[in-house]
Amino acid sequence: MLGELPPILVVDDEKNIRTSIQTMLQGEGYTVQTVDSAEAGLKRLEENEYFMVITDARLGGMTGYEFLKKVKAQWADTPILMITAFATPKLAVEAIKSGALDYLSKPFAPEELLHAVGRCAERYKLLAENAALRSRNEGPNELDQIIGESPKMADLRQLIKRFAPTNATVLILGESGTGKELIAGALHNLSARRQKHYVRINCAAIPENLLESELFGHEKGSFTGAIKQKIGRVEEANGGTIFLDEIGDMSRPLQAKLLRFLEDGSFTRVGGNDERRVDVRLLAATNRDIIHEIEEKNFREDLFHRLNVVQFNPPPLRDRGSDIRLLAEYFLHQFGENMGKVIKGISSGARHKLMSHHWPGNVRELRNVIERAVILENTQEIQPSSLPDFYLETRLKKGEESGPSVGVQSLDELMTQYEKDIIMRALDQQRYNLGKTADALKLSRHALRYRMQRLNINTDGDSDDDESVSSEKEASSQ
Ligand SMILES: Nc1ncnc2c1ncn2[C@@H]1O[C@H](COP(=O)(O)OP(=O)(O)OP(=O)(O)O)[C@@H](O)[C@H]1O
Ligand SMILES: [Mg+2]
Repeated sequence: MLGELPPILVVDDEKNIRTSIQTMLQGEGYTVQTVDSAEAGLKRLEENEYFMVITDARLGGMTGYEFLKKVKAQWADTPILMITAFATPKLAVEAIKSGALDYLSKPFAPEELLHAVGRCAERYKLLAENAALRSRNEGPNELDQIIGESPKMADLRQLIKRFAPTNATVLILGESGTGKELIAGALHNLSARRQKHYVRINCAAIPENLLESELFGHEKGSFTGAIKQKIGRVEEANGGTIFLDEIGDMSRPLQAKLLRFLEDGSFTRVGGNDERRVDVRLLAATNRDIIHEIEEKNFREDLFHRLNVVQFNPPPLRDRGSDIRLLAEYFLHQFGENMGKVIKGISSGARHKLMSHHWPGNVRELRNVIERAVILENTQEIQPSSLPDFYLETRLKKGEESGPSVGVQSLDELMTQYEKDIIMRALDQQRYNLGKTADALKLSRHALRYRMQRLNINTDGDSDDDESVSSEKEASSQ
């Protein structure tokens, strides 16, 4: 029963506590991963699914409370158990107020910990069952979540309906933010495989040397850090669907192994000899120009043909005409509801502004723009002033730089503006891919993020192109 649960993440800067919690929980059959800081915890949460988080209130770096707020904001459903130093009611109240599901005061008895964790496990199972029920009942409506009435979108929906129930391999090609992930999800949820696992792997987010073992698993001791045997994601997906996102980023040697896997479903774990076989349906997507990648010898042509049994091409938003308006209204409704704000519609001025933008970040960009507008708006309709200036676009069109307004703004303000312009432009050129933008600006990704935060540049909450699974993962998750 516990085997079906994802691991628990324990965040504590004291090694002894980490180890003792881990021992207690593992003794009861839970899988536990530990990290020593909130920062490392957030990174882990981006990479893996956890059914709960246990954190100390006092951590070096970001405090447990700040950590809690961040986790709540991004993974609202993940319960958090906070460990506070002394039994003072004030701290406990603060923990609960910040969103902790429960708290324990040090020192605590093992039973107290197990009891609290047991409750979270129960809750996780209930939520998972509900979600499974919902997907069974609501399966046929899955397509309703793909908004768009333009002819291309209508065709796309037909195509999804037609190919979802088959086992055909699907290749989804489209610009960033056009809904590739949404399509892959719908294909799985509308298939008979929906009762089984849907496993998504972002090939760009996992370091090249770890991707093979992530996919196909490894035997104990097959490489430094392979402390124990690991089941690959393809085995986890047995009977279900695997979605290889950003497949254009996969290395050529691994492409060869994938080709073999596609041919007959067979593979071997890294460092293993046994040939294994699973029944998995494969979906793949990339925002790269795959033909160009083939010409450049970065992508194997034979693999392309194998994957390209059915091809989906979600169109860029700029080619979708009045879908822009439909999507804007859809997101307006969604965010309005989430934020408890009643905004009735979009003023004609704002609509015009939306329709004339080029949308390099496609639906994702539109979604972010509307989210921001809902926050800013204080009338009943979205006004043009609540939308960004899309100034880069406009300025690029004019083909001129508007000179600095010396005398009006301070040097600091001018410098800030200049820095913001440069980062915006780089983001735009790199299609909002943080990794590539950081490279282009010769910054670390971390430094870029920091600057974006400081300059209030908000592109996307979904940062899954982030550097992922780091090698210390294996070391500390034991
Ligand atoms: N037709 C649509 N209707 C509703 N929401 C959409 C639609 N297309 C995309 N979205 C939303 O836009 C966001 C981006 O979509 P998605 O993540 O599927 O893009 P993507 O093509 O995978 O992008 P990337 O190449 O950057 O990974 C998501 O929040 C998704 O739900
Ligand atoms: Mg995607």
